[in-house]
Amino acid sequence: MSMPSRAIAPKPDPLRVLAVEGLSTHFPTGRGVLRAVDGVSFDLARGEILAIVGESGSGKSVAGLSIMRLLHRSGGRIVGGRVLLTRRDGTDVDLVRLAEAPMRAVRRREIAMVFQDPMSSLNPVLTIGEQIAETIVQHRRCNAREAWRETLALLGRVGIPAAEARARDYPHELSGGMRQRAMLAIALACEPQILIADEATTALDVTVQAQIVALIAGLCREQQLGVIFVTHDLRLVTDIADRIAVMYCGQVVEEGPARAVLGAPRHPYTRALLACLPVAGDALHPIPGAPPDPIAPPAGCRFHPRCADAEDACRRAPPPRRTVGPAHAASCVRA
Ligand SMILES: Nc1ncnc2c1ncn2[C@@H]1O[C@H](COP(=O)(O)OP(=O)(O)O)[C@@H](O)[C@H]1O
Ligand SMILES: [Mg+2]
Repeated sequence: MSMPSRAIAPKPDPLRVLAVEGLSTHFPTGRGVLRAVDGVSFDLARGEILAIVGESGSGKSVAGLSIMRLLHRSGGRIVGGRVLLTRRDGTDVDLVRLAEAPMRAVRRREIAMVFQDPMSSLNPVLTIGEQIAETIVQHRRCNAREAWRETLALLGRVGIPAAEARARDYPHELSGGMRQRAMLAIALACEPQILIADEATTALDVTVQAQIVALIAGLCREQQLGVIFVTHDLRLVTDIADRIAVMYCGQVVEEGPARAVLGAPRHPYTRALLACLPVAGDALHPIPGAPPDPIAPPAGCRFHPRCADAEDACRRAPPPRRTVGPAHAASCVRA
């Protein structure tokens, strides 16, 4: 993908930082084309947390990786749609069509991503402090002393106590929660506009998970970061999400203000996700029925084989996307 970048006239919404429009990403496989992301659209504003939720395999990670254009090694290909990033100067750029060199700059300066396993992103032979300072030096062209001072400040901002001592630790010397905080410090060192957190707390125990979720929410508000919080666990986002996009088999089936999606869900899949939340205790129980084969999804509504309310129309044609409330839409004939 090395077409020249195209500047697009800015849209009126002054807060919008990202607009994903009809994004589709495919993987060629021996059995046929796997449509991992199939016509996904959503907007993200500055200072807003958009949660992308859905069962494992629904396309959440591929959507995030597509925005970052980190697919080449996996064999995935963006086959359609646009990802409009609003730059700090107010112009929009379509990341799908951006050449690789400026795309690398976007990954360094505009959009940061943190994953479930920080060990895969951290360098095991450098201390945490060295890795953060290195990022700062690359980013701001400051000297080593200034970078170190900023490193300690960043460690404080992500809630790492005794920053002087922790900065000299190697990744393996930190707990899982501290490592995830260190990853967030590296992400913030780039002063991004957008943070994508993909199951960033999934490997942590419940208490630490809650702390990291609260930290990400705080950073979002303080720095007016646009945050995309990807998780299979709806419980994590009920307190912090401003908006929720529910994905099923590569598509967004419901999207809206968190309060509306959680309080008055209009898609049966969203209702099923909510019904599966345990009242007390910590195990999520699965939704009855199996997720569809993404290479040969069911005709019509992809959820119909698992839907108690399915009618003939649901088997015949894909459901229309219906507006069901302010900034709230659901793709269901009964919505
Ligand atoms: N590298 C890959 N090659 C082939 N298929 C993939 C690859 N990565 C993901 N997929 C498929 O794409 C779909 C979406 O995966 P993913 O985005 O990882 O789901 P989620 O993050 O929601 O659990 C799944 O069917 C998955 O098997
Ligand atoms: Mg995933």
